[in-house]
Formats: sequence, structure tokens, C-alpha cells
Amino acid sequence: MTEPKDNPLMEKIVSLCKRRGFIFQSSEIYGGINGFWDYGPLGAELKRNVKELWWHAMTRQRDDVAGLEATIIMSPQIWKASGHVDTFADLMRECPLTKKRVRADQVEPQSGIAFTYLGANSTITNEVVSVFRANLADTISKLPNDDLKTRAEIEAGDLLVGELGATKVAAYLFQWRDLSEGLQPVRKLLHEFKKTHEGKDSSERFTVLLPIGKPPESAHKIAREFYQLNGVKNPALLGEEIKKIENSVDFHPESGVMLTEARPFNLMFKTFVGPVESEDNVAYLRPETAQAIFAQFKNVLETSRQKVPFGIAQVGKAFRNEVTPRNFTFRSREFEQMELEFFIKPDEVIEAIHGSVASVSNSQLSTLNPQPNWGWQAWHQYWVEERVRFYEGIGLSRAMLGFHHQTPAELAHYARACTDILFKFPFSKKDEQGKVIGDELEGIAARSDFDLSQHQRFSGKPMGVFEDELRAAWAKLPKEKQDALWKRYYDHRKNYLTKCARPDETAEQISKQATDDANGLAKGQYIPHVIEPSAGVDRLILALIANAYSEITETDDKGKSETRVTMKFHPRVAPIKVAVLPLMKNKPEIVKKAEEMRALLRPWMNVFYDEAGSIGRRYARQDEAGTPFCVTIDFDTLGEKPELLDTVTIRYRDDGRQDRLKISELLEFLLSKIR
Ligand code: GAP
Repeated sequence: MTEPKDNPLMEKIVSLCKRRGFIFQSSEIYGGINGFWDYGPLGAELKRNVKELWWHAMTRQRDDVAGLEATIIMSPQIWKASGHVDTFADLMRECPLTKKRVRADQVEPQSGIAFTYLGANSTITNEVVSVFRANLADTISKLPNDDLKTRAEIEAGDLLVGELGATKVAAYLFQWRDLSEGLQPVRKLLHEFKKTHEGKDSSERFTVLLPIGKPPESAHKIAREFYQLNGVKNPALLGEEIKKIENSVDFHPESGVMLTEARPFNLMFKTFVGPVESEDNVAYLRPETAQAIFAQFKNVLETSRQKVPFGIAQVGKAFRNEVTPRNFTFRSREFEQMELEFFIKPDEVIEAIHGSVASVSNSQLSTLNPQPNWGWQAWHQYWVEERVRFYEGIGLSRAMLGFHHQTPAELAHYARACTDILFKFPFSKKDEQGKVIGDELEGIAARSDFDLSQHQRFSGKPMGVFEDELRAAWAKLPKEKQDALWKRYYDHRKNYLTKCARPDETAEQISKQATDDANGLAKGQYIPHVIEPSAGVDRLILALIANAYSEITETDDKGKSETRVTMKFHPRVAPIKVAVLPLMKNKPEIVKKAEEMRALLRPWMNVFYDEAGSIGRRYARQDEAGTPFCVTIDFDTLGEKPELLDTVTIRYRDDGRQDRLKISELLEFLLSKIR
């Protein structure tokens, strides 16, 4: 992915976001802080609309989802159970010169000429030596008697510096420790010299890649800078090797310096709870909202009177100390997620109750309501489809979306499937056929019973559910069917328990636990599986902004061209729904009517009132803010043409079309568009 500065469209989008108050750099007055973004007046409205729409679609519009709002800091045990403490890490490489870090999997291939040095020795330049000699001679000449002068000259002499390295000065200083008091000025001079010029030698290898055609002096300069930073004074480079390199991912994209080996870097932000900063008080800012849902699963189940299948939804902040935040807000260090954990029965339970697991084809799913005999695959497909429909409903067409079905190698060990919904961002790459692939907007994962099982093991609290329906159905199953389902469930549990075993757990203990779990089926007990649609608010905002951005350049008769931007947001997400514009601000009757209009609409939607400037300018300002409708109050509204009394002009942002609408019909019309 390229950065906004390499991408003209992204550059325009970033600039518009600042100019119009969608998104600002966090702490901008202090030079900004990498990976953190603030939402300005329009951005805050846009974000609020998106979160409200998600919440509405996921909870209030459904009977089978309940909401949750949990804390950002939770018991660190949660992150041990979830695996984040041990494994939530990116492989990271560092530029040894600039200390800038990059994700190991995101280094762009580079070609050029690599200059390698095997090390560098500290040296003292002739200029420094001459100055020092002059100082030394001067200091010696000021000694009180000839005897001291002679001794100082003998001791200092050429042995001191000359062509010798600074380390030798240090050795020489040692000999001077016995010199008499009278030689103190000379000794002081030597000390200062040592402090300023003594450096170490280094045998550390250093490689820098230069674009073909760049003079080797650049490599020398960079290498010397590196060794200097590592304590080598006035470095003399050792053993230069030169090699042509093609498409290597071993060099830092900015400095060209060869990167360090990849090291895991945990992405969780650490903090301390309470006044003592000790390991016992470590806590983490949550890196995802999902875990609180698992931890509160039982409480929500009991208080919401839901039954599996059902979901728990949460919207909130998440924090990840990303190695390389990039592409504007796409990869930030503080962001918001909208996550649903949708709990379902394991396939063995469905089979026990319903005889078999429904096989539902893709095409049926888009129209079918969820069925009791759906297994995890049907639920997974259903949620992918539901989420795509959500995006379509807020203006992201299917043509702008894409899918990535994670391969078995990409899947987390506990996941059965994961489909990423992609959006074609301006910075998204093309595949070999030249088609834009898109970047992840949301992941929909089938996470098995991993999370609840982990929290059960780590907390010691049961996370399973009991269903009479299962107990009754199980009792009626033929023995062979019971045995077959028991074995499948046992194998699944044993597999999970083996993979996640603590070092002190034995094979016998694992087998016993898996047996107990499988025996639970007959008693109506099981641990629910989960389908997780997990979306990023900020990525969606960026997608909506990129999708809405549209510009036209018009040239007037005098050849002067002007580019006008229209943000074509879907009315549902648009930050301002309607602008109320009195045609003239110095006509009290018009202004009064316009104010009445604002008062009428305000309880229902975000209204912007604007009376400054020509009507054309005001329309243009609203186009740039993405306001889908402008309502103008003019003389006809007041009845200049009697047949138009109490009507207004409504102007549509996307095509500039204008209609006349009765004021009495305005609210209903607008509500039908924005809901
Ligand atoms: N609970 C699962 C989970 O967190 P994820 O794929 O790591 O899965 C889900 O994150 C979504 O959160 C992503 O699809 C993306 O939209 C958003 N997201 C993740 N990391 C982000 C970041 N650094 N900046 C902005 N959004 C991010």
C-alpha cells in the first residue's frame, strides 16, 4: 500500500478532511502523534451516524441480539485466556540507523547496489591532531620549570597522538597518573582530549542499498553515520563489499539500510492499575472489543433471556500499538470497532435435535430467514451476506467491495473459516490482471468454541449452556447416532484441549476432560460456537469518504478553471441531512420562515442553517460537506405566486436538480430518505 503522499487522490481526500473538518491529526499543534486521529465537526457526525446505523441494524432491528458496553481496561487474565499476551504480535524489523520499524510482511521489494561494511575503527583526524599538538605545546610552554617541561615533552611527545588512535591516548593517560602535581594542566588537556575524541572500534556488519547510479560516497556517508551513532569516532570503514540486488524485502523503504532480523512485537498497549508501577499491576488497553463479550457471556445470557442462537453486540474503542500505522486512518493505533459475537449451537447439537444440519446454498441465503437447523457454515454465509447488505444500505455498492476467503494457512488455529469483506480504497493494490483487490473493512470469522472454552479454563467458571431440548432429543436418538455424535464432539474437544494445553496438563487429563464434555451432550450441555462479524468504524468512515469523493473541473469563458468537490454520501450517513437557506438574509419574513423550517426539522435530523453568501456559494459549501438536500425559502414561499405559498425549493446534491415541495410534506419526504 502506498502512503497518501504517493497517491494523488488520497492526498486530496486527506486535505479535504482537514479543510472541511472531517478528520484532523491528533495533537496537531504539537506536531502530531503518529497513528492517532481526531474527528472534526463533520467527521464526528458521520461517525456517530455510522455507529448508530450499525447498532440499529444489529440490535434494535433484530430479536436475537443484545447489546453490551464494557470497559476498555479489563482483568489482564482476559488477555492471557484469549491468547493476546502470548501471541498478539506482529513480526517487526528495524532500520538500525533511523530505528524506524516496519512490519516484516509489509516491506516493499527494492533493487539497487548494496554496499556492505564489515566494521569501522575510530580515528582522529589530522586537523584535530594539529590543533591538539598546538594546545599541548602551549600548555607545556607555560609549565613553571624546565624540568617539568622536559618531562612533559618526553611523556607526551609523539607517542601521545600523532597517527595513533584515541584508545592509545587512554593507555597513555594511565602512565601519567604518577606525574607530579606540576603537570596537572597537561593532564587536564589530555583528559579533555580523551573525553572528546576517544571512540571505540566496531566489527558490526552494515549494509545499505543505493539506487543504481547513485555515487558510492552516499553509501560511505550513511555507513559512517551509522558507526558514529554506535560510538565510533570519525569512523574509518572496513572491508567494503558491493553487490547488485533485485527485488529484496530486506531493506528499509526510506533509508535503504538493511533491516534487522524479524522479531515479534506485542501490539497491546500496557499500563498500570493503581499507584504502583509493578508487574503485578500491569493491565492492557483492549486490542479488540470482542473479549468483553465472551467474558460477560453468561451475565448477558441470563439477563437478556436470550437462547442460543443469539448475539451480543458492542461498539467501542480498541488500541493496538501498530508497528507502522499508515494510509491515513486505515491502520491507526487508537480506533473503534463494531463487533458482534453470534453464538450458535455446535453442528453435533443441531444434528441431535434436528436430525441433520441444513445445507443452504449461497443464493438461498440472501432471502432466507435463519432456520433452527442451520449449522456454522450457513450462519457464517448468512452473516457475510447480512454485512454486505448493510454496506449496500449505506451507499457502498457491491462493485466497490470484494472478498478474501482466508486460506487454511492464514486461519487462526481455532478458526474454521474467515471471510474478509474488502473495500477498494484509493491505495488498494491491483492483482496480476490489473484488477483492484481491496483492503479489509471487516472480517467475519467462524471461531468455533475457542473463546468461551478458554475463558472457562482460565476463570474456572462454566461457560456452557444447558438446553432441555437437547437432553430430550438425545434420549430419543438411536445408540449408533449417539455414539457417532459423541465421538465427533469428543474429537473436537480433545483437539482443542490438546492444542491449548498448559505445560502441566497430561494426555490423560485432556482425554478425561474431552470425555466429560462429550458426556455433557446427553445432559443437554454444550459450549456454544461463535460467528464473529468484526468491523472497524474508522476504516468504514475512510471507505465512505473515499466512496463519496467526486470532483468536477469547470472552465469559464475567460479560461479560468475551478475544481468543485461534492461528497456524495448516502443520506443515511451524511453528516448534515439538510441545509436550510433563506434566499436573502435582509428580508425578515423570509428569515422568519427559514427559522421556522429549521425548528420543524431539527428534532429529527442534523440541520445546517446558512444565510451567508450567494445561493450558489452556499450550495457549493453544502456539496463539499456532503449535504444531500438544500431547502431554499424565497418569495414564492411567502406567496408571491399564490399557488406556491408555503412551498420551498428542494435541491438535490448529486445532480443539482430542483423541485418545489409543500412545507407540510417536507419532513416526511426527508425522513423517508435518511432512514
Ligand atoms: N475480534 C476480531 C478482530 O479484532 P481484526 O481483524 O483484528 O479482528 C477487526 O479487526 C476489524 O477492526 C478490521 O477488519 C478493521 O476494520 C478494524 N481494525 C483492526 N485493526 C485496525 C487498526 N489498526 N486501525 C483501524 N482499524 C482496525
